[in-house]
Amino acid sequence: MNNLRMPHLRFEPSDELAALCKAGGDPLRLNVLRALANDSFGVLELAQIFAIGQSGISHHLKVLAQARLVATRREGNAIFYRRALPQADSFGGRLHAALLEEADQLQLPEDCLARIAAVHAQRAAASRDFFARMADTFQAQQDLIAGLPQYRESVLALLDALSFPAQATAIEVGPGDGGFLPELARRFSRVTALDNSPAMLELARGRCAREGLDNVELLLADALAEPQPAADCVVLNLVLHHLAAPADALKHLAGLVKAGGSLLITELCSHDQSWARTACGDLWLGFEQDDLARWADAAGLASGESLYIGLRNGFQIQVRHFAKPDHPTSTGKE
Ligand SMILES: C[S@@+](CC[C@H](N)C(=O)[O-])C[C@H]1O[C@@H](n2cnc3c(N)ncnc32)[C@H](O)[C@@H]1O
Repeated sequence: MNNLRMPHLRFEPSDELAALCKAGGDPLRLNVLRALANDSFGVLELAQIFAIGQSGISHHLKVLAQARLVATRREGNAIFYRRALPQADSFGGRLHAALLEEADQLQLPEDCLARIAAVHAQRAAASRDFFARMADTFQAQQDLIAGLPQYRESVLALLDALSFPAQATAIEVGPGDGGFLPELARRFSRVTALDNSPAMLELARGRCAREGLDNVELLLADALAEPQPAADCVVLNLVLHHLAAPADALKHLAGLVKAGGSLLITELCSHDQSWARTACGDLWLGFEQDDLARWADAAGLASGESLYIGLRNGFQIQVRHFAKPDHPTSTGKE
């Protein structure tokens, strides 16, 4: 009797596969995965996008989370859902990757796309309102997290290492009070500064006048909405976390970079200081380094050098260079 062995049944891996199949076995959940391809949304936003109640969408998100197809991240008081990345070398990883690949072929219904656009518009309006209200106290608000003096030298180190020719042009998106414009004006033949906040643009205009920057053009424009002539270098300092759909924004911004040119992004690394949403109008609590690289790759840009700056207040800043190939084969992969 003692020699009789019970068959060794391992349930856990099959449970995991079953959870994956169950999660993928529902059209709404597949569409949620599709919607999360390049974005993250809160529960209420997803309820709005898919026009179902909060408890209904919460149930579907729970099933997706149990299958490890989505991951959560706290942004202020809200929980945001994003896709979890497949782990190719772990059990179920290939099925996970294949499921996402197939889901990406889905075309979201027109009404869902319209409601996604509405969610993005709500986020963008919140950001614009903040800068309209806070222009007077801009510097103080900005210094709560990171002021230009803390990252200026790192951005300049990356910029100067790229050795742009004298006739090269630059665009700065979201110059704020224009603190970085003198540095760009010294290094480029022409600089275009795009800001969608009239109050912030006035601050930048004052700085350009005081410093006699006659090669800087200031434009009141939403950098993501209005077409602009491309430049050799596009710079964003602490702007991306104010944009409604950062992955889509990167695609659009890549279009502002000439072939062979560069996109320089200074951003906060992912953090959990949710007070930054109310105090500084941040829509996103920084970004994972990998997310920026993935979004840039999808926009047809190649990751270059990066610098990381730890600040005494606990925030960390990433300064990233993304290069646009000389002869792009496509304007971005989906
Ligand atoms: C936090 S401030 C950063 C200012 C400056 N770059 C700095 O580092 O101090 C963000 C700026 O981006 C601008 N902004 C936000 N969304 C924008 C958009 N879609 N198009 C153009 N400017 C935008 C805001 O008006 C604001 O001036």
